[in-house]
This record gives sequence, C-alpha cells and structure tokens, in this order.
Amino acid sequence: MIKDIQEKILRLKAEKDVCILAHSYMSEEICEVSDFTGDSFALAVRAKSAPQGTVIMCGVRFMAETIKMLAPQKRVILSHPDAGCPMAEQMDKAEIEQLKKLYPDYAVVAYVNTTAQLKSVADVCVTSSSAVKICRAIPQKNILFIPDINLGTYVKNQVPEKNFKLVSGGCPAHAKICKEDAERAKKAHPEALLLVHPECRPEVVELADYVGSTSGITDFAIKSDAREFIIGTENSIVQHLQVSCPDKRFYPLSKDLLCANMKLTTLTDVMRCLEGCGGEEIVLDETLRLQAVKSIDRMIRYGG
Ligand code: 13P
Ligand code: SF4
Repeated sequence: MIKDIQEKILRLKAEKDVCILAHSYMSEEICEVSDFTGDSFALAVRAKSAPQGTVIMCGVRFMAETIKMLAPQKRVILSHPDAGCPMAEQMDKAEIEQLKKLYPDYAVVAYVNTTAQLKSVADVCVTSSSAVKICRAIPQKNILFIPDINLGTYVKNQVPEKNFKLVSGGCPAHAKICKEDAERAKKAHPEALLLVHPECRPEVVELADYVGSTSGITDFAIKSDAREFIIGTENSIVQHLQVSCPDKRFYPLSKDLLCANMKLTTLTDVMRCLEGCGGEEIVLDETLRLQAVKSIDRMIRYGG
C-alpha cells in the first residue's frame, strides 16, 4: 500500500514538474520520494537552484516561506497547512524594533526559525549548521541573537571574540530535555556517543560528544567508527539512522523528543498536494518578501 502511494507520487511529480523537498525530520517514506532531504540550511540552498516550477516543502511553515522568499517565481506548497514552528511565533516585529532602539549598535541575528515579519527586521539569518560560521564572519562585533536562547548560548560559547545579547525563546521539544535525561540515557548506554542539536539546553550540550544540526548529527553518526549513539534531536533521526546504518545502534535521548508539527505531514498529504487538493500555497506580500529576503541572502552568502 505504502509502495503504491509512493509510486503514484513519483509518477505525478515527474508529470507535473514538481520538486519535493523534505526536512530531515520527515518520515522515512516521505524522504524516500523526495528529491532532496536535509537540514534547514541545505534546503534553502537547494530550493534556489531547483529547476522545477513548483516545490512541495515537507516541513514547517518558515521553511516554505524561506523558499518562497528565495524563489518568488516558483509555486511553493507547504505540505500541511497547520505545520508551524512554535518558536517562529515567539517574538513579534514590535519587540525586535524596541530592542533595536535599546541596542542600536547590535546586529540582529535571527535564527531562520522565525516569521517573515521577523526576518524583515533582522540583519542576517542563521541556521543551526551555519550560526557559528556566520556570527564569526559578519563584520559587526555586537550581536543580538533571536529567538533561541539555547542556540544563542551555544554560538556565544563558540565565538568568544564577539559580544552577545540573547532573548529567552526556544524550541519546546528540545528545551524540555534536561540534564537528568541525558545522564539517564548515558547510564543506560555507557558505550554510546551522545549527539545533540544545539537547540538543547546548555547543560545537555555540555555532556555531548558532538553538537550539530540534523544533517550534522546524521553525517557524524554515519562516518563515525563508534557503534552506538544516543540521538539528542527529534526522534525521526533515530529511525533514519537505523535504516542507513543497520550495523550500528541508535537510541533516543528521550522518548519525549518529538515535534508535533513535523509529525503532521503524512505520505498521503504529499500525494494530495500533487493532486492539487492539499497543502497550502505560500503567498507573501512582495514588499515584505523584499525586506525579509535580504537576511536570507546574507545567510547564504556568509554561511555557504
Ligand atoms: P536544522 O537546522 O538542523 O534543520 O534544525 C531545524 C529545526 O527546526 C530543528 O528543530
Ligand atoms: Fe520548531 Fe522545535 Fe519543531 Fe524544530 S523541532 S520545527 S524548532 S518546534
């Protein structure tokens, strides 16, 4: 049955000249039919160069909006209309404008997990895999990092030569994992390396053997000579890695490390998008797009 749906998706996407992009948190069966699977930085770069006229973004809203900003001539379909990222909604434009007045000599560095409105007042965007590189590379010495305090703390520790101001937002899924969860997992699997996403709390990051984006964690585990790994990011990565490396063992850091929004998109949603009766086409006001895309263009320039 799953195979039949996958075959239909592959046929429709070829007939209709559609590119399917999947964030690494999508299910195995969606990744199998996608043209490209990766972290949020790689998806943005790939979307820009995709030759197809339509892109279905299997992920959350800010990812589809980012693609629309970069490729306004394309039809961009978000795989499930309700798939948002709660962190993206945690601050509004007025708050940032107020902070900019308070700290006029600080560059606003925004995690890409933000709304188009927030991107429009940011100097540059970053993703989890590019944040350290970009914060080092930008000319400004003072950085106001929004909205993820955990990623901001991680970057601040890696870039001690710059001054950081952080705000208190974050990912509800990663931020609920505590030091005790990490200690429990390490005790249960003493031979395993702990690989975590920088959206985790600093006390969890401190216990890790590797810190990186979803693609970073995946690449590290595939290339490593170690045999066992505790995965400190959304649990879909545990399943993907177990499929890619059947001879290694992967354990979730916590059974609660789940992103309800990323879980919304199913294989049949992807098929419905291709049939023209599902998903949501992203429409952005052109003035807003032009303001917001500058911070994304700088992200690709400094992070590429
Ligand atoms: P990546 O930058 O690793 O794709 O992470 C995006 C995200 O939403 C993680 O929770
Ligand atoms: Fe947003 Fe967290 Fe889900 Fe990533 S895992 S999309 S940051 S809520």
